[in-house]
Amino acid sequence: MRRKIVAGNWKMNKTPSEAVELVNMLKPLVASDDVDVVFCVPAIDIIPAVEAAKGSNISIGAENMYFEESGAYTGEISPAMLTDAGVKYVVIGHSERREYFAETDATVNKKVLKALEHGITPIMCCGESLEQREQGVTMDFVRQQVKIGLQGVTADQAKTVVIAYEPIWAIGTGKTATTEQAQEVCGEIRKCIAEVYDDATAAAIRIQYGGSVNGKTAPDLFAQPDIDGGLVGGASLKEDFGNIVNYK
Ligand code: PGA
Repeated sequence: MRRKIVAGNWKMNKTPSEAVELVNMLKPLVASDDVDVVFCVPAIDIIPAVEAAKGSNISIGAENMYFEESGAYTGEISPAMLTDAGVKYVVIGHSERREYFAETDATVNKKVLKALEHGITPIMCCGESLEQREQGVTMDFVRQQVKIGLQGVTADQAKTVVIAYEPIWAIGTGKTATTEQAQEVCGEIRKCIAEVYDDATAAAIRIQYGGSVNGKTAPDLFAQPDIDGGLVGGASLKEDFGNIVNYK
């Protein structure tokens, strides 16, 4: 059985001192023995958040990372900087980074490989736009994102990766995909993993749904056979995140 994983994506919210307050507020609410809980926070919040989360079940993640070891890349954060700060997970290829910061499947792939090399679990995002859904190319598009994103990743490494399926039209819109829509694509992603790798890898890899998840929608979504938790934006900044983690 795959262990569920619920990750918050704070996006560009919370100053370092606000981050400490939020971690302390949510700590008791997200306590859980059977769900992995991750807070992916802005880079500048990582160190205080790691400190505030000490002794709890919360792991701290980053929202982005560069794919080089070090050097003349002004403004970027290296994998070693993240691991030294106590980071265990990193969101890679979020649709907002693809849209506003020119990330492509090729840069996503480089980042996934580099994160794995450093023992950081990538939460690799994929998902179609509304236009693509209406054109009927959702499966083709998402399959391509997954296949390119995982190029050169071994089966053993792939088993540790988390894939977040986030339809762009459902992000921050309050318009959650139906459980059927979410399950359909997450199931297709698992099929794609089985084709690229094997059944054992497909059975091990964790696939999250993301897009307007809240405490009310989480129970049905997370009960689907191919949905192993969620990547949560807006609701991860509120008490409701506790309801999402403890969705049962
Ligand atoms: P949302 O964001 O939950 O606010 O829709 C999800 C995400 O972008 O990861």
